[in-house]
Amino acid sequence: MPGPCLSWTDGLSPSTRVANLANLASVELADAIRKRKMTRSFSSEPVDKTIVYSILSDALKAPSAGFAQGCHLMLLEGPEQTGIFWNATTTSEWRERNHRGTRLHSRLLDAPVVVICLADPEAYLERYSEPDKYASGLGRDAGAEAWPVPYWIVDASFAAMTILLRCTGEGLGALFFGIFRGEAQLKHDLGIPAHVVPVGAIAIGHPHVDDRLSTSVARGRRPFDQVVHHGKW
Ligand SMILES: Cc1cc2nc3c(=O)[nH]c(=O)nc-3n(C[C@H](O)[C@H](O)[C@H](O)COP(=O)(O)O)c2cc1C
Repeated sequence: MPGPCLSWTDGLSPSTRVANLANLASVELADAIRKRKMTRSFSSEPVDKTIVYSILSDALKAPSAGFAQGCHLMLLEGPEQTGIFWNATTTSEWRERNHRGTRLHSRLLDAPVVVICLADPEAYLERYSEPDKYASGLGRDAGAEAWPVPYWIVDASFAAMTILLRCTGEGLGALFFGIFRGEAQLKHDLGIPAHVVPVGAIAIGHPHVDDRLSTSVARGRRPFDQVVHHGKW
C-alpha cells in the first residue's frame, strides 16, 4: 500500500528526512531553553485552554523513576480557582503589599492559570516494592526516609521543567515558585491527600509589559568551567 512518503518529490531519502526533522525540532528546543526566563507579572488575559491542556499533557512525558509516575498536577484556572491558591498560601498583608503596586510580583496574582506540581511518595514506595525493584531496598519496608534522593521530587521537578519550556515555546510567561506557607490549608481547600507533597507552583499567562527581571539575576550566571567538572572535580 503506497504511503504518503511515496508522493514526496524532493529526492531525499527517508533517513535524511527524519534527520532533518530531528534537527529542526532540536533547534526549537534549544531556542526555548535559551530564551526561558521566569515571568513575574502577568496580564489577566486568559490562556487558550487547548494550549494549557497540550502543555500539561506533555508534562506527562517527563521521565519517571521506575515509571512510577507519582506526579500529579493541580490545574487552577481563572480568578475563583487561583484565588483559593493565593488565599491559602499568602497573607492578606502580602497580597495588599504586592498586588498592582510597583513591586516585582505586583501582577503575579493576575496570572490566569496556576499549576501546582505535586509528588506522591507512596507511588514510589509501592513501585519499588514490586519484584523487579525489590532489590533496591527502597520499597515499603524501608520507607521514604531510606531514599538517598527522593525520586518523587525529582520526577515532579522534571515535569515542572517540561511545563516551563513548553510555556516558552508557546510564547507564554511562567514562574515556578515554592510554597512557603499555608500548605495544610491549601491541601484542605483543594482536597489534596495528606501524604502528597506540593513541590511548587507554576503561574502561567501572558507576560505583562511591566514584567522585569528579579534582582537575583544580577548575580550573573556561573561560568561553564565552574559548573562542569570535566573528568575530575
Ligand atoms: C525551586 C525554585 C524556587 C523558586 N522560588 C521563587 C520565588 O519564590 N519567587 C520568585 O520570584 N522566583 C522564584 N524562583 C525563580 C528563580 O529566582 C529564578 O529561576 C532565578 O532567579 C533564575 O532566573 P531565570 O529562571 O529567569 O533564568 C524559584 C526557582 C526555583 C527553581
